[in-house]
Amino acid sequence: MTSTTSSESTQKAPAKDPWDLPDVSGLVVGVLGGTGPQGKGLAYRFARAGQKVILGSRAAERAQAAADELNQGGLGIEGADNAECARRSDIVIVAVPWDGHGATLEALREDLAGKLVVDCVNPLGFDKKGAYALKPEEGSAAEQAAALLPDSRVTAAFHHLSAVLLADPEIDEIDTDVMVLGEARADTDVVQALAGRIPGMRGVFAGRLRNAHQVESLVANLISTNRRYKAHAGLRVTDV
Ligand SMILES: NC(=O)c1ccc[n+]([C@@H]2O[C@H](COP(=O)([O-])OP(=O)(O)OC[C@H]3O[C@@H](n4cnc5c(N)ncnc54)[C@H](OP(=O)(O)O)[C@@H]3O)[C@@H](O)[C@H]2O)c1
Repeated sequence: MTSTTSSESTQKAPAKDPWDLPDVSGLVVGVLGGTGPQGKGLAYRFARAGQKVILGSRAAERAQAAADELNQGGLGIEGADNAECARRSDIVIVAVPWDGHGATLEALREDLAGKLVVDCVNPLGFDKKGAYALKPEEGSAAEQAAALLPDSRVTAAFHHLSAVLLADPEIDEIDTDVMVLGEARADTDVVQALAGRIPGMRGVFAGRLRNAHQVESLVANLISTNRRYKAHAGLRVTDV
């Protein structure tokens, strides 16, 4: 039988405050598929918050055109092809459609080695009844990313944001929580801190990647809500 002496128990490190998050202001944020509404919106918000941003595309000139459009406010966003975007960034957000997700990540495996990858892809189908969740073989888009990128640190976040609100320069604060999932606390802390760079936004830890499917799928519900109420619904997790 083991017992803990009082001197051992007094030496135990105090529990870390979950809101004690790292300073991420010096990290370069890349966005794969940054020419679409979601990627462009995130690039705009992070650059507006003072983050260095590299916007990626399959074609460098499309990336540059999107960066130029966003830079009219002097934000200093750079455009690059997805591979260069991945190589030059510390944190890489994956904002490509589900259809192109696997092939995109497979091709960028080496460029993404050692990077903190943030997947925001929602595998959804649409029919006459509206949006519905698809069931990826790996469990979720995030788990597919983790399987394809063994040398990267894969997390998942930013699924529930409205690209319309992100892009609107008249809106100063985005009033929402961001559910952040991942395997390593150090990585989810960084992503939570990154979410917190956008005024009004808060990153909340929401579990490991095996629970990403529900988070990705919930977007189908939000789309239904948006259609019914003509809204751009977001989420708040209460009591934390
Ligand atoms: N829209 C939203 O409000 C929202 C919110 C939360 C999460 N998301 C998720 O974010 C992702 C991007 O959404 P979005 O609406 O911005 O998508 P999108 O406009 O359809 O695609 C984004 C960009 O991805 C590139 N792309 C298109 N097809 C591709 C393929 N087969 N392989 C690789 N790249 C491809 C395109 O850029 P280039 O042609 O320049 O390469 C495109 O501009 C989706 O997975 C979505 O589920 C969207």
